[in-house]
Formats: sequence, structure tokens, C-alpha cells
Amino acid sequence: ILLAVFAIGKTYMVGTSADFPPFEYVEDGKYVGFDMDLIRAIADEMGFKVVIVDMAFDSLIAALASGNLDIVIAGMTITEEREQVVDFSTPYWVADQSVVVSEGSGLSITVLFGDHDIGVQTGTTGDLWVEENLVNTKILTGQFKRYETFVLAMTDLVNGNVDAIVLDSPVAEMYAKSRPVEIVGIIKTGEEYGIAVQEGNKELLNLINEGIKRLQESGKIEEIISKYF
Ligand code: ARG
Repeated sequence: ILLAVFAIGKTYMVGTSADFPPFEYVEDGKYVGFDMDLIRAIADEMGFKVVIVDMAFDSLIAALASGNLDIVIAGMTITEEREQVVDFSTPYWVADQSVVVSEGSGLSITVLFGDHDIGVQTGTTGDLWVEENLVNTKILTGQFKRYETFVLAMTDLVNGNVDAIVLDSPVAEMYAKSRPVEIVGIIKTGEEYGIAVQEGNKELLNLINEGIKRLQESGKIEEIISKYF
């Protein structure tokens, strides 16, 4: 009851990066996907309203920290580094990273070594992984290309302007269905996605966690999953 009183009538600004199907993407001019349905369902359940704002993934944390956003839901992995700046909900998804190449390129997982060009989305866990494990170690000697969106990265991959892209497995699988690209390797990171709020915003975090719990119990989350996966 207290939670409901807190939330009445409030509208929260929700940031995302809508290039990440099936979690968030644009269809017929609308923001759709698992994350979009999930945050709207939590809002309905807990009695608040949301406005979705699309921005570069790399800007989301700063926008949240500065108060321009109240909530971030963007297939965002809970990391120690991010935990220092924002607070995360209970995890709602587990993912690994995938290595994706252009179909028929003949490239395999060894694309990660030597003189190949590898692309990532700026500021993602895939970006960090490639930098730490391949670039800094000089295992990779080709170009390291950072893209603002995965849509741009995929276009470059299909056009042969980059040899491979490293991105979250569920999203790689989705792109592999709709574009001439294929997964040639999995990097088992077991990373967990969470919904982020401003550091110390306990009230809103409690609302979100309670919402997730209720939607799990009612089977609504399963319903949203089967809609998108
Ligand atoms: N899970 C990865 C991370 O947190 C990638 C998320 C990218 N999300 C997006 N909407 N483009 O860094």
C-alpha cells in the first residue's frame, strides 16, 4: 500500500538504446521488445507512467546519474563498475557474448586473432571484453571499431567493412535470423541484466523489484517472453 501511494500519478523518464532486438527496437515508429513491454507492465502493475527516451547506449548511465532519466532498461548488464554510479534491480535475464561474422565469409572463431577488424557497440560489456582480452593483449592487431548502435555495426558487417561483431547472444541470434550473418562462437560471460535507477533511489528501486516479483508470480513475464523469443 505504501509503495502504491508513493507512485500515484508519477511519470518516469525511461532511457533505452533501441537497437537491441528482441529487447528494444523500433517497429512502425514504436518502441517495442521484451524490455519495453516489461517496463510498461511494471508501471501498470505498480501504478506509474513511463515515457521512453531513445539514446546512445554509452550515454544512458550519465543521463541517469545526472537526473535526466529516472530509469534505464536496455539489456544492461549489472557490472561492478556501473554499480558504483547507479543502482540495479534484481536480475531479469542472463546472457553470454557471441561472435558474429558475415554469412559465407568463411571466417571462424579465429577471426578474433591477428589482423582482423572487430566491431562492438561503444560502452558495452562486449566493448570492454574485446579491449581487455584482445586489443590490450595484442592478440588482435587489426582495427577495433566502436559503433554507436548495433544497427550500424550490422550494416558494416554485411557490407564487408568489418570482419566480426561481438555482442550479446540473444541479440546475435535475433540478427542472425533477419540478416545474412552467422554466429561462429560464444564467449561464456553469464552476465545478468538489470533495470537501473539513480544511486540511492530506494523507493523507485523497490517499486521496480516488487513489480518484477509480481509479474513473475502472475506469469505475465512468461507471456512477454513467449511474445518475443
Ligand atoms: N549487455 C550489454 C551491456 O550491458 C549490451 C547492452 C546493449 N544494449 C542496447 N540496448 N544496445 O553492456
